[in-house]
Amino acid sequence: MKIAIPKERAPGEGRVAASIEVIGKLINLGCEVVVESGAGDGASISDDAFKNAGASIAKDFAATVKDAGMVWKITAPNKTESGKLSKGQAVCAHLSALTDPEGVEVLAKSGATGYAMELMPRISRAQSMDILSSQANLAGYKAVLNAAEIYGRAMPMMMTAAGTVPPARAFIMGVGVAGLQAIATAKRLGAAVSATDVRPATKEQVASLGGKFLEVDPEMEKEAETEGGYAKEMPPEYFEKQKQKVREHLPKQDIVVTTALIPGRPAPKLISKDMVEGMKSGAVIVDMAAEAGGNCELTKPGEVTTTENGVIIDGRMNLPSRLAETASALFAKNLFNFVSPHFDKEKGEFVFDEEDDTVKGTMVCKDGKIVSDRVTDALGAKGATKKPAPKKAAKKDDEEKTEDGKGA
Ligand code: NAI
Repeated sequence: MKIAIPKERAPGEGRVAASIEVIGKLINLGCEVVVESGAGDGASISDDAFKNAGASIAKDFAATVKDAGMVWKITAPNKTESGKLSKGQAVCAHLSALTDPEGVEVLAKSGATGYAMELMPRISRAQSMDILSSQANLAGYKAVLNAAEIYGRAMPMMMTAAGTVPPARAFIMGVGVAGLQAIATAKRLGAAVSATDVRPATKEQVASLGGKFLEVDPEMEKEAETEGGYAKEMPPEYFEKQKQKVREHLPKQDIVVTTALIPGRPAPKLISKDMVEGMKSGAVIVDMAAEAGGNCELTKPGEVTTTENGVIIDGRMNLPSRLAETASALFAKNLFNFVSPHFDKEKGEFVFDEEDDTVKGTMVCKDGKIVSDRVTDALGAKGATKKPAPKKAAKKDDEEKTEDGKGA
């Protein structure tokens, strides 16, 4: 079976959905791997390195995906790319299926089977397949490095002959995968770290990394977590309390990293304009939620800006792409861990078990149709679905079908 690895074409995307290690593993299974020329450029993997690992190189997207059983990508195929896919091909990528359900509609039209890797269920067995975790972990690390670079003072406490430098104070908002790595990185760089989250389970995690937890309302937080381990959208009363606490805390902070996200929803606004106005000149906010609209009211997605009172707000997006080599290696490993249990040795190809939770949870389109309720709901919410036929007409249609025997 042929696995195709096209070049990523989204602006600023340096990653590639393959690594030398994973190509070796696919070839060991008996697969053939075809990589589009230049696909690894942003991740420092040359065509020759892919060739040496056993892959062949194709000149463009169409030649790469021709006759492939499976296509691995980082981001969703664009319209032109989807138009070049064919029936039955499996596409594994971050399809942004809930935020861009129209993209899934276009992919469905090609007849390909789309696996939205970002919808991987959060069960322990699937941890090794979870692209959100592997990429968020790297992003949390890079966010703190970016903050350290922008910040005009030192991070650790230094006792020098010329005087003592106090440690920077870092505040992490949202303690999921990215937030935990941000805490650990800021600690390693010597900052005094505090953090907050709506999910009560994070209190102990913050403490275990040596950070201080900023508590908002333990009673309301008891209901803050979904069964899937994600945060729920909190009621307005909670936001008011949270704002009060954060407003008091921010003026003392040098570095703030915000990571708060609610799946499929705009990011909660945790830092308002007046809160930024209360911060120190030279303080840095790295808004990791910029892609989902930002946690800070003043964030300009994709830009680094400075407010009138001298606070620097970093809204740059796609942080994993700035660590493209590591991010590609982990992403490719996630894909391999997802597909390898479904390899049929006798047939020499992947036969996905559609009863498997990881397949059920991620499969969004097949045979020309959208097969995920979550994607259909997202389309509905965007007003993109067709209105159902009026009841009367539907009944008539049923009757007609029954009369000629087809609807019985
Ligand atoms: P995420 O990226 O959706 O959100 C980041 C953080 O923001 C979360 O901790 C969330 O609670 C927090 N947040 C949301 N609204 C907030 C608000 N108003 N104020 C403050 N914080 C707010 O979450 P992520 O990082 O993807 O992970 C969430 C949980 O899922 C973690 O506990 C993680 O360990 C778990 N997980 C489990 C996996 C598995 O079992 N396969 C895989 C990956 C994560």
